[in-house]
Formats: sequence, structure tokens, C-alpha cells
Amino acid sequence: MAHYTNHLMLLFLATISFFSSTFSKDASSINVLSFGAKPNGKFDSTTSFLKAWSNACKSKESATFYVPKGNFLIKQVTFEGPCSNNIKFRIDGTIVAPSDYRSHGNSGMWIMFRNLNGFSVQGGTFDGKGDSYWRCRKSGSSCPAGARSITFSSCNDVKVSGLTSLNSQAMHIAVDHCKNILFKNVKIDAPSTSPNTDGFNVILSTGVTVSQAIISTGDDCIALSQGNTNVWIEHITCGPGHGISIGSLGAYKNEAGVHNVTVTDSIFEGTQNGVRIKSWAQPSNGYASNIVFRNLTMKNANNPIIIDQNYCPGDKSCPHQSSGVKISKVSYEHIRGTSACPQAINLDCSKSNPCEGIKLQDIDLVYGEGSTTSTCNNVGGINSGVVIPKSCVSLHSLNEK
Ligand SMILES: *[C@@H]1O[C@H](CO)[C@@H](O)[C@H](O)[C@H]1NC(C)=O
Ligand SMILES: *[C@@H]1O[C@H](CO)[C@@H](O)[C@H](O)[C@H]1NC(C)=O
Repeated sequence: MAHYTNHLMLLFLATISFFSSTFSKDASSINVLSFGAKPNGKFDSTTSFLKAWSNACKSKESATFYVPKGNFLIKQVTFEGPCSNNIKFRIDGTIVAPSDYRSHGNSGMWIMFRNLNGFSVQGGTFDGKGDSYWRCRKSGSSCPAGARSITFSSCNDVKVSGLTSLNSQAMHIAVDHCKNILFKNVKIDAPSTSPNTDGFNVILSTGVTVSQAIISTGDDCIALSQGNTNVWIEHITCGPGHGISIGSLGAYKNEAGVHNVTVTDSIFEGTQNGVRIKSWAQPSNGYASNIVFRNLTMKNANNPIIIDQNYCPGDKSCPHQSSGVKISKVSYEHIRGTSACPQAINLDCSKSNPCEGIKLQDIDLVYGEGSTTSTCNNVGGINSGVVIPKSCVSLHSLNEK
């Protein structure tokens, strides 16, 4: 009898938990299953998601847009605001892109969140199914624009946590024109051979925080391009990937500068670069200033510390020109570990706009059994503490040819 009661009790509890997860008691919780979405990975749930979104967005009380466990096939879609409440997007399942890469057309987008104020995304896996698109790129045939997996455009006060992005066709997470956006505990995974699959790509945004991300991909783990201010990046594990990059800057004659960026407490493992600032070798009014790289560990990273102001791929459109981008007040503090090449520090600044206020402090970068070197062109700044390799930065190195 006791046995039987236990079973009944279990069944009762299981039923309760089934009902509370499927039809949350919270009246303003909007479950995509109620709008016809199917968790079988085959049924196109795009229209159901949009209907659910429209309901959640209209709600006067704060609404939860809920995606339960399972695989949901979703085509190119925009979750457009503004909404009447601070929507919470809670995802226990996986959002899957169509396996035919042509499905996104030439939009360059898969999932987009736009014009939203006060908004959060919790959990969820986004599987971009990028491999057939990368194969198209490699075969050299004409392919559509690669779709970025998740875009946040014109957003204020956004919190994204516990999200995973897999195998994006192009960038994984793109942020543009956002203010106060926090990413916490995000995981990004694509092969090292996948082209242009930046982990995060941020432009024209302010108050951007990325905390505790694990990023393995085929391009930059994080790329900050023009017009980003007040950016905080901490506890990142990057690799494989191209490192954390400010740039490319100076792509345009007229562009907004990058100001007040901190990258701290992070690890770079087998990356093509560690921390890089990169600008096109051509006229521009762009700039990068007040940048701090602190407490970073390099594990067999190529180019652990690099400034490249002579970027001009294929020597097309800008050969023998000089970058107009001004780089100033950049601090490298407490950076140690192993470099995959002897040249551990390479600061190649603009002839016409030399780097100023570069600081190297407590650096210890080694290369196998051999020693490491540093190279400077047009750099002015100071050293502090022990710097290995021997620093090429000095007040008078500014004028050295
Ligand atoms: C720099 O950005 C951080 C956030 O990353 C912010 O807390 C700080 O106030 C900013 N500093 C200035 C001087 O604006
Ligand atoms: C440096 O960063 C590591 C993570 O890479 C962290 O565990 C450690 O506490 C940090 N050290 C300091 C002095 O902040």
C-alpha cells in the first residue's frame, strides 16, 4: 500500500510539474506550443513564434516568452519592438536554422531583436547549421551573404544569460546601436576553419559588458569596431579563434571612435592573436583611446600583443598609405604565458598618427626554450615593472624609423 501511494504521489508530482512547465500558472507566460510550434525540429515554427511574440509584446503586464525543451525549426525572423512591457525570453530548448543555407536569402540575418527597451534572454541554444554555407564559401561558387545568427539592434537595457550559439553561418552575436547590454555565461562554438564566424561583433554601442564567455570559433572571439564606448570584457576563454580585437578601424573616412574599453581576467588558448588593435592604412578620423588589457593569460597564442595600423589586405585600395586612426592611452598590464612565435609584442603604429601613451607593465611572455622579442614602429609610451620580452617602447622610440 505504501508502495502504491508512493507511485500515486510520484505520478501526482510529475503531473503537476508537467502542467506547470507546459502551461505556466503565470497568466502572462506565453508558451510557443500554445501557438502551434512543434518541438520536433522539422515543423516550421516561425509563424507560431511570431504570433506568440505579438501577444507577449502587446501585454501590459511583464510577459515571459517561453520556449520549452525540444528542437524548434525557425526561419529568418525579427522580434520587433517597442513592446508594452519588459519581455523575458526564456528558452529551455534549441532553436534550429533550416539546413539549406539559401533559406535566409541575402538578408544576412537569421534571428534579430530590434527596437527593444528592457528585455532579457535566458538560456537557449541557437544552432545556425552553418556547415553547408561554409562549404559553399570554400568551393568558391557564388554564395549568398552569410547570415549572422543573433542580432541585437537598437536595444536599451538588455540582459542575455546562459545562451549558447553553435555553428553560425557568419557572426554569432552581432550588436549594433545598443545601450547597456550585458552578456553573461554565453557559450559560442564553431570550428576554427569556419570563415568570418566572429563570436561577438559590436558596433556603435555603449555600455556593453561580456562576462564569463567561452568562445571557440573561426574568427575573432570578440570584435569591437567603430563607435563603441564603455565596454567591459571579463573572464573570457578564447580559442581557437583570432583573439579579442578592436577593429578593423579606419574603414571609413568619417567614423566614430572607440573609447574606454577594458579586457580583463581572460585566457587565450591557441589563438591567432591575443589582444589586437587593427586599422586600415588609409585616411580616417577614427580613434581608439583609454583601452586597458589586464591580467591575461596566453597559452600558445600567436601575436599575444599586437597593434597593426598597416592593414591593407592584398595591398588593394590603400598601398603605401598611412592610417589616420589615432591610438592613445593603451595599457597592457600583467600579461603572461606562452607565445606561439618569437615576436610576442608587435606594435606597428601609423607614421602620420603615431601611437601615444602606450604602457607596458608586468609582462612575461615566453616562447618555447627561446627568447621573445618586441617590435615598435611609431610608438610613444612608458614601461613599468618587469617586461619580458625587453620592451621596445620608450619615450624616444616614437621618432625612430
Ligand atoms: C568606462 O566604462 C565603464 C564600464 O565598462 C564604466 O563603469 C566607467 O564609468 C567608464 N568610465 C568613464 C570615465 O566613462
Ligand atoms: C586573473 O584572471 C584569472 C582568470 O583568468 C583569475 O582567476 C584571477 O583571479 C585574476 N587575478 C587577479 C589578480 O585579478
